[in-house]
Amino acid sequence: DVMREVLGLKDLEKKLKHTLHIEDVIVVAGDSDLSPWVKKEMGRACVACMKERLTDKNIVAVTGGTTLAAVAEMMTPDSKQSDVLFVPARGGLGEDVKNQANTICAKMAEKTMGNYRLLHVPDHLSNEAYQSLIEEPTVKEVLQLIKSSSMVIHGIGDAITMAERRKTPEEDMEKIKARYAVAEAFGYYFNQEGEVVHKVKTVGIQLEDLEHVQHVIAVAGGASKAKAIKAYMKQAPHSILITDEGAARALIRE
Ligand code: G3H
Repeated sequence: DVMREVLGLKDLEKKLKHTLHIEDVIVVAGDSDLSPWVKKEMGRACVACMKERLTDKNIVAVTGGTTLAAVAEMMTPDSKQSDVLFVPARGGLGEDVKNQANTICAKMAEKTMGNYRLLHVPDHLSNEAYQSLIEEPTVKEVLQLIKSSSMVIHGIGDAITMAERRKTPEEDMEKIKARYAVAEAFGYYFNQEGEVVHKVKTVGIQLEDLEHVQHVIAVAGGASKAKAIKAYMKQAPHSILITDEGAARALIRE
C-alpha cells in the first residue's frame, strides 16, 4: 500500500469517487489502452475484491469481453474454500468464443476449482424460438441460478466499439448512433446521461435485476473508455469500479 501511496493511486481514487459520485473505486497503475498487462492488473485487483466479499455459498455471474477474460486469467482458488458457482450473466451477444461469457465463466471455475453452469442461447433468435427456448427446463434452471446471483462482475465498453465488434445489424447500429450511445454493458447501450437507448434482446440478467444483487463489480480501463465509464456509472452509483490510471486521469481532466 505504501507503493500505491507513492504512485498517487490513493489520491486518484479519492478524486475519482468525487468526480463520479460513487463510493467504491480501485485504480491500478498504467493505461490498458497502451499496455496490455494493465488489464491483468485490473484482473488481479478484481480477484482480491471478489475474495474479500465471498461468503460460504456464492453464485457469481460474469459477462464477456477482453477485460473479463483477463480477470479470469488472474483467478486463483480461494483460501477460505468458499463454495463458488460461476454462471454467465447473459447470452452470447455476438462475441468471439474467447470473449464470450460462457467461456470466461468456465475458465474462472477451472482456475478457482469452483463449479460452473453454461447458458446455450444463440443471438438474434426469432420471437417464437426465443419463447420456446426459455421454457426449456435446463435453460430455465440456469436462468434461475443467474437471477439468484450474489455477485456480478462485468465489463463496460465504448458503445460504437462494442456495436462494431459484435457485428450489430445495420438498423440497430443506426439506432445506437442516432441516440448518441456512448457506453455498453450487458448488451445494454447508454447515452452520456446514463439512460438506456438500446438493448440487445437476450436472456439472463436484466439491468433492473442488479438492484437486488449484493455485490456488483464493474471492471473497465483505458483512457478511451473514460466517456463510457462516466455514463455507465451515472446509473450504477452502488457498483464497485475497478479501473486504471489511464481512464482515471482522463475522467478527472474532463
Ligand atoms: O461486455 C463487454 C464490455 O462491455 C467491454 O469489453 O473488456 O473487451 O473492452 P472489453
